[in-house]
Amino acid sequence: MYSLGIETSCDETSCAVVSGQRVRSVVTVSSLNYHKRYGGVIPEIATRNHLQFIDSVCCQALKKARVRLHDISVIAATYRPGLRGALVIGVNFAKALSVSCKIPFLGVNHLHAHLFSPFLDYPKKIPLPCIGLVVSGGHTDIFLVKDFDDITLLGETRDDACGEVYDKIARSFGLGYPGGGYIDALYQAQWADSYRFRCPRIGLGFSFSGIKTAVIYKKMELEKAHRLTRDETIKILSSFQESVVTTLVENVFAAAAAHKIKTIICGGGVTANLRLRSCLNEKAKETGTRLYVPQKRYTADNAAMVAGLAFYLYNDKKNTSSLDLEVETN
Ligand code: KG4
Ligand code: ZN
Repeated sequence: MYSLGIETSCDETSCAVVSGQRVRSVVTVSSLNYHKRYGGVIPEIATRNHLQFIDSVCCQALKKARVRLHDISVIAATYRPGLRGALVIGVNFAKALSVSCKIPFLGVNHLHAHLFSPFLDYPKKIPLPCIGLVVSGGHTDIFLVKDFDDITLLGETRDDACGEVYDKIARSFGLGYPGGGYIDALYQAQWADSYRFRCPRIGLGFSFSGIKTAVIYKKMELEKAHRLTRDETIKILSSFQESVVTTLVENVFAAAAAHKIKTIICGGGVTANLRLRSCLNEKAKETGTRLYVPQKRYTADNAAMVAGLAFYLYNDKKNTSSLDLEVETN
């Protein structure tokens, strides 16, 4: 039995075939290069690219997995949240395949798929219940995951998402887009206390716009005297990253303690961050918590997480969606 997953919520056109928790294929085409010069994703460009590539990406994913469409038991697509036009392409493509091949259709929540990503190619049973952290370019959320069809939001960011702040700060320093990887690569632990940048924790929620402004103001202040040196850049960015990572780790472990749960799962682009991964690991050891983070290749948007979650929801929970299911941006 196989599931076919389709992900088009932002700038990645991705299709994957999964069997159980095992990824048989994943093929992704990104329109990132077209967005780079704007410093953010342009919805029209993303949508046009999905339309252009979805068919061939899907064929390649099937071919790579050595399966035919008729071997697929469920066809899933991300239906929320994301860019409207982009979501519409993936969802309608999935619905059309579903109708023409008489295969059930399932709409998948992108954030829930990120939460499922640690279990891709993971050979053991999924540990439930758990506390889930999604940190990406569009979201910074903490969830109570009783099961993958019983997920409750416990806390979220009040303003900017964590990855979005990485991207905006990187942009103001003239680093590339998306900026998370660049800042992560510049991070040096010995400079992480150079400046006092703080992110508030609001219950189990977050706020990142204050630290964004503080970092950019510090840069401008130093630049009044002279051109920023590389060491100064590293000191500012390392202090920024340390504060963000500390806040994410403190909050997700506070949620786990509040719910007396000793299992944490994480997903989303920012979980590629080396400092975040190491601090989560350290704290998990210290508190005797089981921690599940995705393999690096499944941190960013990909269809394997959509297909994996769909396999679980269809096979274990008998979930399907109506063909009337509409896309939702939020
Ligand atoms: O999950 P994702 O691929 O797309 C969304 O659903 O938003 O996340 C993209 C975000 C970008 O903001 C990017 O800067 C951030 O993930 N990111 C990182 C790292 N790699 C990617 N942030 C911090 N450190 C990284 N190593
Ligand atoms: Zn995402």
